[in-house]
Amino acid sequence: MRVMKLSIDDRVVDVPPGATVLEAVNRLGVALPQLCKDPDRSPLGACRTCLVHVEDMRGTPAACHLPARDGMVISTTHPDVVRIRSMVLELTRAMLSSGERSPMIEAGAGFPGDRRTSGGIGGHFGAPDVLGGFGQLGDACSRHEVARARWEPMHRFEPDVSKSFFTLDREACILCGRCTVACDDVQKIGAISMLGRGHAMKVGVAGDALMSSSVCTSCGQCVATCPTGALRPKEEPATVARRVETTCPYCGVGCGIEVHVRDDRRLAVMADDVPRNRSSEGMLCVKGRFGTGFVHARDRIVRPMVRRDGAWRETSWDDALDTAAAGLARHRGKFAALASAKATNEDGYLIQKLCRI
Ligand code: SF4
Ligand code: SF4
Ligand code: FES
Repeated sequence: MRVMKLSIDDRVVDVPPGATVLEAVNRLGVALPQLCKDPDRSPLGACRTCLVHVEDMRGTPAACHLPARDGMVISTTHPDVVRIRSMVLELTRAMLSSGERSPMIEAGAGFPGDRRTSGGIGGHFGAPDVLGGFGQLGDACSRHEVARARWEPMHRFEPDVSKSFFTLDREACILCGRCTVACDDVQKIGAISMLGRGHAMKVGVAGDALMSSSVCTSCGQCVATCPTGALRPKEEPATVARRVETTCPYCGVGCGIEVHVRDDRRLAVMADDVPRNRSSEGMLCVKGRFGTGFVHARDRIVRPMVRRDGAWRETSWDDALDTAAAGLARHRGKFAALASAKATNEDGYLIQKLCRI
């Protein structure tokens, strides 16, 4: 496999055959806006914010759709491309109302190294790691000195707060299409699509009804990919101290999740999916996405307990296991087991074995 060499902003980068120019740009960690490109999915080519200048090529092509070629000389900072990109960003910014409802956009907070922000190339946006800061647009605008758009949008939409875990705020939507693709192609649900035309176009569900009355399963795939916070968790933004990749504890499928530990040591309500996990391939259900908060339940059993004299008492693991083994031996051949849907296939196999011996 022959590696291709490209020059980007006077730096050389190697990429494998089949790579796009955007992948080469991200490999170098260059801060190029890419609002409609989810790093885990094919390019949509909808936002035109990833424009670059290519030596000996006419126009300003979109990097996400441009196949990389050996010897290409690319600039992300050429005055022509910066001027056009700034205009695209201003027009995009003009699609939003004042942003009062979506301070995350104004703040321009991003997710360094996060799939929403950087295509997996760590931290090149350099913004604080703020939970819910889906502010790629704000970040891109501030880098291009687009403080406010000169135009006002012609629409005025009320937010849809009918879902338990997230809000759809169409005043913060740039119609990039990432959410509808996530719902259709990743989750295979098809709950949301683009409704209407022109200035009236918006993301919505069948019959222009509330999201809660649709077939939406609250999987949060659309929320995870939204680059502006138009789809955002209802939880207040908080600083993320740590991210931990783990396995969803809810059922035996074993989906990959990445939980976010806030600086107050609580888990953020929303977890991220892990596309490289072979069990889930980036899909999650509502429980894996929004349901891990049970770890903070006050009545959760976190230590071994045995019942003695009719009351539950905390004890050591050794004592708990000895007590359980003695009880099972006493009733050998006369007990059944209730197994949890949270158990893995292997656990299920073992429990039936135990009941049969
Ligand atoms: S939460 Fe899931 S099912 Fe509902 S609209 Fe978003 S992607 Fe579709
Ligand atoms: S809701 Fe978000 S992901 Fe969906 S089209 Fe609007 S900006 Fe894009
Ligand atoms: S990221 Fe290339 S057109 Fe949107």
